[in-house]
Amino acid sequence: MYKINDNYQKLPGSYLFSTIAKKVNAYSAANPDKKIIRLGIGDVTQPLAPAIIEAMHKAVDEMGAAETFRGYAPDLGYEFLRNAIVKNDYQARGCDIAADEIFVSDGAKSDSGNIQEIFAENNRIAVCDPVYPVYVDSNVMAGRTGTYDPKTEMWSDVIYMPCTMENNFVPEFPKETPDLIYLCLPNNPTGTTITKDQLQGWVDYANKAGAVIIYDAAYEAYISEENVAHSIYECEGAKTCAIELKSFSKNAGFTGVRLGYTVVPKELKCGEVSLNAMWARRHGTKFNGAPYIVQRAGEAVYSDAGKEQLKEQVAYYMKNAATIKDGLMKAGYMVFGGVNAPYIWLKTPDQMTSWEFFDYLLENANVVGTPGSGFGPSGEGYFRLTAFGSYENTLAALERIQKL
Ligand SMILES: Cc1ncc(COP(=O)(O)O)c(C=O)c1O
Repeated sequence: MYKINDNYQKLPGSYLFSTIAKKVNAYSAANPDKKIIRLGIGDVTQPLAPAIIEAMHKAVDEMGAAETFRGYAPDLGYEFLRNAIVKNDYQARGCDIAADEIFVSDGAKSDSGNIQEIFAENNRIAVCDPVYPVYVDSNVMAGRTGTYDPKTEMWSDVIYMPCTMENNFVPEFPKETPDLIYLCLPNNPTGTTITKDQLQGWVDYANKAGAVIIYDAAYEAYISEENVAHSIYECEGAKTCAIELKSFSKNAGFTGVRLGYTVVPKELKCGEVSLNAMWARRHGTKFNGAPYIVQRAGEAVYSDAGKEQLKEQVAYYMKNAATIKDGLMKAGYMVFGGVNAPYIWLKTPDQMTSWEFFDYLLENANVVGTPGSGFGPSGEGYFRLTAFGSYENTLAALERIQKL
């Protein structure tokens, strides 16, 4: 008789976005005349930039001619893309990362969920709280998290690093020493980040503790402040302790196109064993490459025209972020994030819980956001709004909130 992976049974239901959808649908059905503005889900709304569309069209045509047709892509990704990544994302920032340390993938969700596979089951993980849920859930599936306490909403074997307004949303070094440290900076959901000096502190801590930092830089393109690192490899010593995950979803609108990459430096070793070699082995066995057309689209992200157009796209979303932030502040809210990330994190007013504020906003302003408690217990009493809507909707939503 076959047996299932029992760890899946331990996963608490992920009700966040389905509960939101149910509540919104019920409200819409009861109030068909109300126009609801959705600033909840972190998906982009602007179309792909012209330089990217042009590159995709060209690649599609190549696939239609015998001389230029491509089949399976190389394991690590096409060199034209890996070289563009090295030049633009690393060399340009003074980071010494080579093309064979880049692994092209179909996005940061897969990579952030899969990377734990190359580590032993008895590693202790540390995560920020609140957190992007994939880090914890993928470790639950692998049997690394112990037992779940529904009261505290915490796993017995996970080290939580609360990030709240009390510590300025900067994770503190945990009391127990972790083996794997997940850091997402700039952060989803809080929209906040840490300085390069603070990140250097984490790199030094990890090197000293013999820990690996899994650094999710999915929102790097939104950094606007000078003293914030765009890559963890800007920090000295990061190549011996850090894996970096990148996505084309938020900087270039690839949420539906699917492209990302992971950097595993060759200097990252457990004794004599190279993690780069392990990830190459895993990638070669379980992944058959991002599509040629998509990798050409990714290359266009780094063309002069692509860079210019995407700068505008990011600026468009950041104008929304500023609109939300300023509007909320004028309305008397305590507001965080929105400077180096497309997320605004606000403290719910009048001691409301995250879900109470969700209902209040839906019913009185017809605006949908995301309850902070859905990202972890330390998210209780906070609420996330995204800057990924249209400018018109963002403005209208803020006008409604200000009238409350
Ligand atoms: C922190 C973080 N990492 C990764 C992802 C997923 O990125 P991708 O679309 O490349 O899979 C998201 C998406 O919302 C995210 O917020």
